[in-house]
Amino acid sequence: MPSRKPRRDFLTRTLAVAPWVVAASLSWPTGSLLLFGEPKRGKLRIPLAQIQEGITPILSAKLYIRKAGDSITVLDAHCTHMGCTLHYDTDNRVFNCPCHHSRFDDEGHRLKGPARRDLDRIAHVVTGDAIVIG
Ligand code: FES
Repeated sequence: MPSRKPRRDFLTRTLAVAPWVVAASLSWPTGSLLLFGEPKRGKLRIPLAQIQEGITPILSAKLYIRKAGDSITVLDAHCTHMGCTLHYDTDNRVFNCPCHHSRFDDEGHRLKGPARRDLDRIAHVVTGDAIVIG
């Protein structure tokens, strides 16, 4: 009859380590922010020809560009609640958060919580034929 001791040892060791693994994975986003600061985008140059009227996603840089006539706004694609990446709903012209269902209009104004503030606007300059961000 096989001994149950190895299985019990395995379970004991696994259960001893599991809380630390869970704690580390839950604290990584906050810890990395404290250790390394805000993630940097670097300088980004986007040709104006790529920007359509309405919302243009630049998801490689986690931002959305809103163009309304001559007005250009660059919005951070991170939800202001806990930082999840927002999805733009073109039919309803709103940004939806998949994590806790906050909603923002296409100008970045908060429509529904739990987020408590509007989307962050990213500083940019329009130079000739491009938008320069960062
Ligand atoms: S992270 Fe968007 S609602 Fe919580």
